[in-house]
Amino acid sequence: MRTQVAIIGAGPSGLLLGQLLHKHGIDNVILEARTGDYVLGRVRAGVVEKGTADLLAEAGAGDRLKREGLVHDGAEISFSGERHRIDFRELTGKAVVVYGQTEITRDLMDGRKATGGKTIYEAADVSLHDFDGNNPKVRYRKDGVEHEVACDFIAGCDGYHGISRRSVPSSSIKTFERVYPFGWMGLLSETPPVSHELIYIHHTRGFALCSMRSPTRSRYYVQCDAGDMTENWSDQRFWDELKARLDQKGRDELVTGPSIEKTIAPLRSFVAEPMRFGRLFLAGDAAHIVPPTGAKGLNLAASDIHYLSKALAEHYTEKSSAGIDGYSTRALARVWKAERFSWWMTGLLHKFPDTGEFGEKMQLAELEYLVSSKSAATALAENYVGLPY
Ligand code: APR
Ligand code: PHB
Repeated sequence: MRTQVAIIGAGPSGLLLGQLLHKHGIDNVILEARTGDYVLGRVRAGVVEKGTADLLAEAGAGDRLKREGLVHDGAEISFSGERHRIDFRELTGKAVVVYGQTEITRDLMDGRKATGGKTIYEAADVSLHDFDGNNPKVRYRKDGVEHEVACDFIAGCDGYHGISRRSVPSSSIKTFERVYPFGWMGLLSETPPVSHELIYIHHTRGFALCSMRSPTRSRYYVQCDAGDMTENWSDQRFWDELKARLDQKGRDELVTGPSIEKTIAPLRSFVAEPMRFGRLFLAGDAAHIVPPTGAKGLNLAASDIHYLSKALAEHYTEKSSAGIDGYSTRALARVWKAERFSWWMTGLLHKFPDTGEFGEKMQLAELEYLVSSKSAATALAENYVGLPY
């Protein structure tokens, strides 16, 4: 088989790239290790920047988000038992849309089906070859048969655990990493959200977050120990812990119910540099991970794909390599800013095992400053709604 761009991974990055390339008339094939249902089974963050929403619309996958997405003009921060609102709209003129990543993936998959794009699910043992020359290839096995895809470019959109980044010689890549000493225990329930906007909670017992997927479906998180397991968290224990971290109004208004899903996520900051190796490009989680505080993961994947799809379109339609040559630098400039924001928000709101009472006093001083200074609140708001591309 031959294609112009072989895309590894059918998560949001790979699917979005596939649809944008299709729009530009660029032939592409997606190779995905798992089944479509498995990909749709993963529950992830749900805050969409305007730039991401626009890109999804450009890819023909923005209709449902526009109809069903919940526009949030602000969010609340709770500390010392009081809630304070950060008004994104007033401070930046922009808002975010709350819409689950699972739904985004579903919309992109539907779009791909409608445009006849080729996705090979359950592609085993994917391997990348010759991307340092002009004729890269990807090999994989499907139903016991070996296949080869010859292509012009390979897009490594296969997430943190994928094969693309690991196919690069270690002397050509530098990685930067910070692992946080705690995790997030997340619970999804068919209950109305405790508030119409998100609440980020700083508490002496640890961080908590009240989020949502719809007016009838809530997503809540509590900071837990690194290495903790969902089996240790009965629904009752989760609700009790969330209540203990909420303010009085939240405690009074919280509607609890049986969990539909529970997961523990570790928290990590990670960046691989560069993001291009000859004819191989890395995008999304394959190149970088942010801790979930601030929900930048999907939005960063989208900005990578924006730069990459433009670069490839330029290559094919204008015969210019400027976009391709500049991809890594442009993408990384935005990546590092989102890494900084996610790291900062994580540091501000979580209980750290090693910083003691002094660390907590610093957090409270910064939180007080944040809610009393328009400049500080604006700095949070403009990062939260998304920095420009
Ligand atoms: N071969 C083929 N496919 C693979 C391989 C492989 N060797 N390894 C992984 N994959 C697939 C995974 O099964 C997954 O479906 O690549 C896909 C990668 O998807 P994601 O992990 O969702 O990564 P990405 O598309 O970059 O999405 C970024 O997802 O993890 C969140 O916070 C992150 O919101 C961000 C978004
Ligand atoms: C979520 O809804 O899953 C979510 C929202 C905001 C975050 C992180 C996760 O900062």
